[in-house]
Amino acid sequence: MKGGWIAAWCGLRAVARAMHSHKKTRMIHTIAPPRRLRGDISLPGDKSISHRAVLLNAVATGTAEITNFLAGADCLSTIACVQALGVRVERHEDAVCVYGAGLRGLREPVDVLNCGNSGTTLRLLAGMLAGQEGMFSVLTGDASLRSRPQQRIVAPLRALGASLDGRDQGNRAPLAVRGAHLHGGVYELPIASAQVKSALLLAALFGDGTLTLTGRTDGRDHTERMLAAMGATIMVDGSAIHLTPPDCPDALQPLSLQVPGDPSSAAFWWVAAAIHPDAEITTTGVCLNPTRTGALDALRDMGAQIAVTNQRVEGGEPVGDVAVRSSRLHGIVIEGALIPRLIDELPVLALAAACAEGETTIRDAHELRVKETDRIATVASGLTALGAAVEPADDGMIIAGGGNLRGAMLDSHGDHRLAMTWAIAGLVAAGETVVHGAEAVDVSYPEFWNVLRRIRE
Ligand code: S3P
Repeated sequence: MKGGWIAAWCGLRAVARAMHSHKKTRMIHTIAPPRRLRGDISLPGDKSISHRAVLLNAVATGTAEITNFLAGADCLSTIACVQALGVRVERHEDAVCVYGAGLRGLREPVDVLNCGNSGTTLRLLAGMLAGQEGMFSVLTGDASLRSRPQQRIVAPLRALGASLDGRDQGNRAPLAVRGAHLHGGVYELPIASAQVKSALLLAALFGDGTLTLTGRTDGRDHTERMLAAMGATIMVDGSAIHLTPPDCPDALQPLSLQVPGDPSSAAFWWVAAAIHPDAEITTTGVCLNPTRTGALDALRDMGAQIAVTNQRVEGGEPVGDVAVRSSRLHGIVIEGALIPRLIDELPVLALAAACAEGETTIRDAHELRVKETDRIATVASGLTALGAAVEPADDGMIIAGGGNLRGAMLDSHGDHRLAMTWAIAGLVAAGETVVHGAEAVDVSYPEFWNVLRRIRE
């Protein structure tokens, strides 16, 4: 394919350009501030729930139908890996049918399992595969995923009897997993990571004896909810989680569900509406699980005008519609127990802080350093390029606020949440904002650029 301009949003003053570097097409989008933002947005399915719906139903006995499945690159990696393990999965747009193979039905993969950019795929699968006695598998991913730390799952899985290894003493993928006989035990989670918590729970499904998790179990709880709904013996008692492995291979019932909308994707529209001077946006069917609503709490705290309506339960999760209007934001402190509840939304919340009056401090967020990029470094440098005063710290950043952003040339660095954050910045920054690596949105929100075009007036 030739390089050059491949798309132009003429009236919108936004353009996309495709270039080629090695195998991947690099897209460029140029955004200028619109007069108004208006619209109702029905969201793509939640990424964390979509992954888990495929992984857990793969080892259930029977067929599950998942609707509003997120057909982003990360969740498609999960489907491909599960298929490589011998499980039949069919996809028709955003509906997915998983023909569960039962707890003993996975087959040894004939090749390396490629998790792409997805930490959730790699870490949850590592847990699941650790207990497949006699099975050998290798998990890898793209350059970003291969650079991310895996000791956080490798060490506790080894403590349960797992045999795992990888580069850098087992800390980096590719990870080799030789399925072993696992035992239960007690493990105190040192960081609030739902991926680590879930990897251990999935491993324990295939082991002997109860696993008890204590410590920082406060990450998102979709795995616990789904396991309970599928009939697993799981008990949550304050901050302790106990999982007793089923004693027969067909113990897990399939779980059909409609995946609720992803609050991490909705957050881009919430911030867009709050920082734009003439905006009103409603996101419908948002997952309002309390382990995921930190961004709403932080935005409310900053003075955002937010209305939550139509609250209901869907797919075992609380769901509602969230409307946000143009608001006068002020700076706040984001720290402590709030951090795991908004960890993925911090890039776009940092943008909101740059548009707020007064200083915002983000702390206790070391985890940002080991996401798809080092999001303290990448967010601070992007916001600085937009004219904001940002002081990065070890575990967060201080953002001076005050608005007056000016358009800049920004890069996603292959990080989906950065690509979307810079696009939202372009809605308020004077002049034009150019986002390089715009295709990164495909990881979690393939429709993002189309929705952005639709809500501009
Ligand atoms: C996820 C957990 C979080 C989050 C990631 C998805 C999950 O990561 O940042 O995007 O689906 O379990 P950690 O477990 O590393 O906090």
